[in-house]
Amino acid sequence: MTLDERIRVRLDAARALAIPIKELSLEDRPLYAKHLLELGAKDRYLRFGNPLSDETIVRYVSGIDFDRATVFGVFDDNLKLVAAGHFAPHSIEAEAGQADLKPTTAEFGLSVAEEARGKGMGTALFVRASTHARNLGIANLFMHCLTQNKAMMRIARKAGMEISYSAGEADAYVTLAPADAASVIREAMQEQIALFDFAFKQQVLNSRGLMREMRLPDAA
Ligand SMILES: CC(C)(COP(=O)(O)OP(=O)(O)OC[C@H]1O[C@@H](n2cnc3c(N)ncnc32)[C@H](O)[C@@H]1OP(=O)(O)O)[C@@H](O)C(=O)NCCC(=O)NCCS
Repeated sequence: MTLDERIRVRLDAARALAIPIKELSLEDRPLYAKHLLELGAKDRYLRFGNPLSDETIVRYVSGIDFDRATVFGVFDDNLKLVAAGHFAPHSIEAEAGQADLKPTTAEFGLSVAEEARGKGMGTALFVRASTHARNLGIANLFMHCLTQNKAMMRIARKAGMEISYSAGEADAYVTLAPADAASVIREAMQEQIALFDFAFKQQVLNSRGLMREMRLPDAA
């Protein structure tokens, strides 16, 4: 990576901290399904390599094992889930029958609602996934995308990922540095900030509802 590229990675990492990204829980499954169902056919194609039907999307979300995988999300002021990424760790050896082996690789797939694009959320989700992978001791992060997906290709290139191309599809890999104190603290802080941000937005929405019920003017 050139010096310019390294500076770019650092800048992206710093900007990513300004976007609260929260780990979703099992109870958030319907929110994730709703977010994906709102993607149009072209975006579904870009996200999954296939314009999945509603039923398949619902099945895909139901099949996420929240004990192993992590889904990250960004909420807007109305607590709508506007961006989300599915981080799925796996171990090639475990797939070959040796269960209980620590995952060595993780695949990341992400999507941002159309109205929220171009604000750095895609990049921020990727940065968060990289930190998460490092903190789990996972050395390789992998993304599968279509070469026509300019925004995704840009995110992969900015992160210094190695990209191999085949028949209009691209596999992007990055080898991550091991976890260190900074990466562990960064992720813990990001999660706390996201929890605070979520609770704050909830409070604002609740008090607006209360004001409406009491017929008081909304200050916002
Ligand atoms: C791909 C996607 C996640 C990007 O989300 P986003 O929040 O808009 O991404 P960002 O704002 O972080 O922008 C990413 C970069 O791509 C660039 N970009 C965006 N659209 C672009 C385009 N058409 N051509 C070239 N670059 C583009 C941005 O300028 C930015 O680069 P910069 O930081 O150097 O300015 C979003 O477009 C999406 O959800 N698409 C549909 C689903 C999908 O493709 N998922 C990925 C499959 S794994």
